[in-house]
Amino acid sequence: MLRRSGHIAVKSDEEIQRVREACVVAATVLEKLCADVAPGVNTYDIDQAGKKYIEELGAESACYNYRIGSKVYPAYTCLSVNDEVVHGIGSLKTILRPGDNITVDVVVRYNGFIGDNARTLIIGHGDEQMHNLVKTTEEALYHGISFAKAGGRVGDISHGVQKFVEKRGMSVVREFVGHGVGRTMHEDPQVPNYGRKGSGAKLYPGMTIAIEPMVNLGKAAIQVDSDGWTARTRDGLPAAHFEHTVLVTEAGPEILTISKK
Ligand code: MF3
Ligand code: CO
Repeated sequence: MLRRSGHIAVKSDEEIQRVREACVVAATVLEKLCADVAPGVNTYDIDQAGKKYIEELGAESACYNYRIGSKVYPAYTCLSVNDEVVHGIGSLKTILRPGDNITVDVVVRYNGFIGDNARTLIIGHGDEQMHNLVKTTEEALYHGISFAKAGGRVGDISHGVQKFVEKRGMSVVREFVGHGVGRTMHEDPQVPNYGRKGSGAKLYPGMTIAIEPMVNLGKAAIQVDSDGWTARTRDGLPAAHFEHTVLVTEAGPEILTISKK
């Protein structure tokens, strides 16, 4: 049974348990995939490895065949290189080179529930700007998570992320947002990476939300490729993206996408 706070699901203990398990699977797959990232590797092979790891753990990719309107996502993971912000599609032609970045984004369905997480890695030694971008984005995620507290509002997270990123002279992407996670990948509430403190939906214990700053080194504007999915920066400068699925508890935020050791 769903209890509801407005239109946003507060999950039962059983549902939370199942999101928890899906998140451990998602995090374990992400961990394994990140270990495969190396110079000379192409992103098609990484995607295929992702498919294998997901299936080995008894889960399925929530990305494969994911539909938005008439668009159908064709890959098992999202692999976004350099100026690609999100939803990059693995390709034999995309070969990782030292200094590149790659965002590995893994969303699984396990026992009927979703786990969603992402991380950006630098191939070999990136330049200082690339390191700043990736570090800022990861720190912005943890800063945002710190506001995922019962009694707070979604806007506290949004504002926290935006301020953190803009203070460093970088930009948050507007077109894609974090989201509730449950039986489906994108549930209410939307969790933008920009906004006002104290605005938006209230946070209650039992909500499971994906917080996911997408940060551009340069300007915020993005465009989507003719494949209908790959979102990249307009100015061609690199972007980074970190994501965790988080449970709001009485005691504060709990990150669910932590892999089994
Ligand atoms: N983590 C991404 C998101 O929350 C994954 C999208 S999967 C895709 O939007 F199928 F939409 F590509
Ligand atoms: Co997400």
